[in-house]
Amino acid sequence: MSIYEDRVLPHLVNFACSTKPSQKQREKIVPLARGEVLEVGFGSGLNLPFYDQQRVYKIWGLEPSEGMRRKALPMVNASGFNVEYINLPAESIPLEANSVDTVLVTYSLCTIPDVVTALEGMRRVLRPGGSLLYCEHGIAPDESVCRWQRRLNPLWSRVAGGCNMDRDIPDLLKKGGFGITVDERMYIPGLKMLCYNYWGEAKAIR
Ligand SMILES: C[S@@+](CC[C@H](N)C(=O)[O-])C[C@H]1O[C@@H](n2cnc3c(N)ncnc32)[C@H](O)[C@@H]1O
Repeated sequence: MSIYEDRVLPHLVNFACSTKPSQKQREKIVPLARGEVLEVGFGSGLNLPFYDQQRVYKIWGLEPSEGMRRKALPMVNASGFNVEYINLPAESIPLEANSVDTVLVTYSLCTIPDVVTALEGMRRVLRPGGSLLYCEHGIAPDESVCRWQRRLNPLWSRVAGGCNMDRDIPDLLKKGGFGITVDERMYIPGLKMLCYNYWGEAKAIR
């Protein structure tokens, strides 16, 4: 891992992910988590204030970047939640099959390299009846915006820690074995190329 990835990127990611519009998005989805939760791409812990203390008793924070885990630590310690880190990428989730009630993934499906394998793993660990809750940015519905997303993505991905701005989130969820039960989408305030948001709930197809 480079010094940029370890020391600089965690602060940039935290800054970029804590805008008012993205916090508003978290508010819509994170409180729906319940029981034992696997949060994939835990980042700097920005979802912690939005979990419902009455509904969540354990959070597995899967985050492969040591720098991000370090950045999240003060939030974890202040949260009062039972958070246990998993220091691995989402492509190799070490939890038992059918072992969590909720998988939460926010603004991370854009970055995980083998995202379909990762989603298959999330489906494997979800208990029957469990939910995958997601809130992501991705490919925009307007052709003019899409064109710019595709054009700039290679450069963007290099400076933004592997983030892709042109992923088709609903299509990836389907490829990973999920059926979407709540499907919301819109531009949130900000740069259109980065601000078309998809959020909702998906269930494992068994
Ligand atoms: C844009 S950040 C979002 C962080 C957090 N989920 C949030 O909403 O603020 C993307 C996160 O995905 C993590 N990530 C990168 N590759 C990953 C992988 N293979 N598996 C799981 N997480 C990964 C990054 O380290 C980073 O913390």
